[in-house]
Amino acid sequence: MRVAQTTQELADELKGSRPAFVPTMGALHGGHLALISRAKQLARNGTRVAVSIFVNPTQFGPGEDYQRYPRMLEADATAAGLAGADVIFAPSVEAVYPQQRRDLARVPRLPEVATQPKLEDAHRPGHFAGVCQVVARLFDMVGPSVAVFGEKDYQQLRVIEEMVKQETDRWPGLKIERHPTVREPDGLAMSSRNAYLHQEQRADALAISRALMLARNANSPREAEQNMQEILQWHRLAVDYAVVRDARTLMPIEEFGVPARALIAARLVNVRLIDNMAAGGGETKDPHAGS
Ligand code: PAJ
Repeated sequence: MRVAQTTQELADELKGSRPAFVPTMGALHGGHLALISRAKQLARNGTRVAVSIFVNPTQFGPGEDYQRYPRMLEADATAAGLAGADVIFAPSVEAVYPQQRRDLARVPRLPEVATQPKLEDAHRPGHFAGVCQVVARLFDMVGPSVAVFGEKDYQQLRVIEEMVKQETDRWPGLKIERHPTVREPDGLAMSSRNAYLHQEQRADALAISRALMLARNANSPREAEQNMQEILQWHRLAVDYAVVRDARTLMPIEEFGVPARALIAARLVNVRLIDNMAAGGGETKDPHAGS
């Protein structure tokens, strides 16, 4: 598997074509590999599949896990290749954010869904500025025709969808493809951070997907939120939020009726986990929902 480390090496691989693109921070698991397979399906007529592996320093807050985030480029490149990747782009921090070209790292204007819901935006200040900064920069470097993102990071997905809508001149024709969350057989959402969990913590972590499933059948957003809180606290999770929101704006709703999303962020000792699911049976009406 060819690993391009500079924009020039990447350009040599892509030969002017616009690839199907999967941005990642590596430590690839079944969720990432499903996104790569989806990109492969979308890549017809010789379109290439590009996967970036870059642990972006600007989206981690002070005291977060930037330093200890798992890094395993060789194994990742092999796994990505088997899933359908044609080229891996693993740039250095200097290649993404050149000291001499600060203009290239300009943070795009953040859409409201990155600042208003008070979900990840409130608990990880600066996170979406870093995500938009790096994704914009990666889109500029890779020049994709389609980019695949997972519903696992639902607010991030909505932020990217809105950012691309706002910047149509910058990336003409770029399509954002949603992929559903890939789960372990017991329901736990796959995540690179699951590697931090000890065995007994893993059992408690399951309360997150269980709580979200309960929210699916609740009669009101408020009832869903109460049920989720209860099960999370029972399993000793420290809850950052456990809410039901409008699936598009991620703002609070009083009743089911609009497409709704239940979202949880909770901590088990020093591991922070996030997950989400459609709630209230309304998701099928969401015109933005993927397959
Ligand atoms: P990372 O956490 O590596 O995730 C890369 C992509 O994989 C994201 O679109 C994420 O939503 C998706 N993903 C992760 N776990 C998943 C699962 N269990 N099922 C389906 N998709 C899953 O998200 C990032 O990296 C970064 O913020 C990035 C966008 C690369 C910018 O640095």
